[in-house]
Amino acid sequence: MYDLIVIGAGPGGYVCAIRAAQLGLKVACVEGRETLGGTCLNVGCIPSKALLHASHMAHEMHENFAKMGLMNAHADIDWDRMQAYKAETVGTNTKGIEFLFKKNKIDWLKGWASIPAAGKVQVGDQVHETKNIVIASGSAATSLKGVEVDNDAGIVVDSTGVLALKKIPQTMVVIGAGVIGLELGSVYSRLGTKVTVVEYLDAITPGMDGEVQKQFQRILSKQGLKFILGAAVSGVESAENGATVTYTPKKGGDAQTLDAEVVLVATGRRPYHDGLGLDALGVKLTDRGQIAIDNHFATSVPGVYAIGDAVPGPMLAHKAEDEGMAVAEILAGKHGHVNYDAIPGVIYTTPEVAAVGLTEEGAKATGRKVKIGKFPLMGNARAKAMLQAEGFVKLIADADTDRILGCHIIGPGAGEMIHEVCVAMEFGAAAQDLALTCHAHPTVSEAVREAALACGDGAIHV
Ligand code: NAI
Repeated sequence: MYDLIVIGAGPGGYVCAIRAAQLGLKVACVEGRETLGGTCLNVGCIPSKALLHASHMAHEMHENFAKMGLMNAHADIDWDRMQAYKAETVGTNTKGIEFLFKKNKIDWLKGWASIPAAGKVQVGDQVHETKNIVIASGSAATSLKGVEVDNDAGIVVDSTGVLALKKIPQTMVVIGAGVIGLELGSVYSRLGTKVTVVEYLDAITPGMDGEVQKQFQRILSKQGLKFILGAAVSGVESAENGATVTYTPKKGGDAQTLDAEVVLVATGRRPYHDGLGLDALGVKLTDRGQIAIDNHFATSVPGVYAIGDAVPGPMLAHKAEDEGMAVAEILAGKHGHVNYDAIPGVIYTTPEVAAVGLTEEGAKATGRKVKIGKFPLMGNARAKAMLQAEGFVKLIADADTDRILGCHIIGPGAGEMIHEVCVAMEFGAAAQDLALTCHAHPTVSEAVREAALACGDGAIHV
């Protein structure tokens, strides 16, 4: 009899299993993939970051080396080697989780789970008894109606297939200007592919701060990505050497077509809990197909909990991790908690885009008076030395209390810099607190402090 069986070994599930074991529970984790780590480590966050890093280096070489006096730099792209580097990056990470499971005495039940009843998890022919179950089964890519994704054929692909194309295509159409479309679209753009992004909405990166959306689109356009906004893709016709995408402008007009060697469908993900038997078990879902949970991650069935992409909230690995730790602590009799107001979001392009808390639009919509402190990286010495001064830091604070409500950064290392604001928000800090915190010079992080100063008596370097 286990204390806990976790279903799924992605960032939500494996972190939950480790924390529960550290807190003295007897834990097993079911995973049907050949390796641990879920979508994120195997076909998501980690392999994409390997390709993003490699293509970022290529971008630096083309764009900036000569400006810095590094002349005649040239790299032939060995796609097979780049794919091998990606696989090695994934391998060291997935093996790392295996090691952590052994270290924490967590049993890996290999196979796909179903839940015949509360307290029972079936894997293959075997039924395992457990006091509690945490479902961390993640999400799956969705496609558009009538559009067939075939990752093996490598022509119409999703976020998994696009990581393992047989060669770098000459042309690519990306459907959807969300995080996946822009990260992977910019990888190929930097490797020489002509990329066109078709997006239904009138702006890229839905949900992001409006100013960030505009500036980010400008930067990506300058890098060579083409955007067709306000366009609904209605079909993709696949042939032997490419595909034709049909879209209709939202403002009216005839349907248009675009041909490309590869089409990436990046129109969102759906919660994945297929085959678990949730219907028969009586686990309630939301109207969006997510597993419904209460504030303690409990589903409608006692003893069955759920976390991560399968439940409501942003589909982010780190949100799943936090929920995994919190539910483990609750099951161990402690007080697990997630602060959903301070979860960062990062787009790992060049430059990176990072955000935490409310957007300017969102903050104003709450009815409070807000003040905005904005600092352009053109005023930051370090960013200028790096030839990456196109972005800015925008801090949003409550005008009455000075409390930080949100922060939005475009710039080199934005995904690292955002965390000082996360910590500040976690401690309920005011903009003045950040403004009074000494920041090392010269760092790009100084721009965060300058944005905080701009919420008060003014930034220094503008
Ligand atoms: P998304 O929901 O972020 O973006 C999908 C985009 O497709 C939307 O802008 C939508 O308007 C557009 N779209 C939908 N149907 C369309 C149509 N017929 N024609 C034209 N455009 C259409 O979804 P995405 O990028 O696939 O990402 C899925 C999830 O994975 C997100 O929740 C994202 O946050 C998460 N993710 C996060 C990453 C990160 O944090 N760096 C990296 C990758 C994924």
